[in-house]
Amino acid sequence: MAESSKKIIIGCDHAAFEMKEKIKTFLISLGIEVEDAGTDGEKSVDYPIYGAKVASAVSQGLVRRGILLCGTGLGMSMVANRFPGVRAALCGGLFAASMSRRHNDANILVIGARVTGDVLALEIVKTWLETPFEGDRHQRRLELFNRLEDMAGGQ
Ligand code: RB5
Repeated sequence: MAESSKKIIIGCDHAAFEMKEKIKTFLISLGIEVEDAGTDGEKSVDYPIYGAKVASAVSQGLVRRGILLCGTGLGMSMVANRFPGVRAALCGGLFAASMSRRHNDANILVIGARVTGDVLALEIVKTWLETPFEGDRHQRRLELFNRLEDMAGGQ
């Protein structure tokens, strides 16, 4: 199955609600199943709640990949990367989107809706979905992440 045909869980805060709707429509147009973790409007909300919904689903292996959006992308990145096994990448351009897959096997894409325009955001999503992980030495490096998680957990 092509990467792009797999399910994506998407979440945002109020600052990125409009962008989430556009990305959702785009994903559906590509035939991708989308699970929407909210928020569902422009009323002010706390981004960690929505970041945690998406990141915990990916961390638990319920969904392989997620997309998180907030104003800058910074808060959502910080939240998502606290979850074991999550590799969330804040991408503001196509090079970062491609490299986050090729070298980092990023499983959550983060975009800042107040930083990145809608047209570029859709291109970032497309590139991120279509770019495979290169494995090899990059796999070895990702395995070191697990050791860091163990250290951070005091083991
Ligand atoms: C909300 O005002 C804003 O702080 C949030 O969207 C995000 O940018 C946090 O990192």
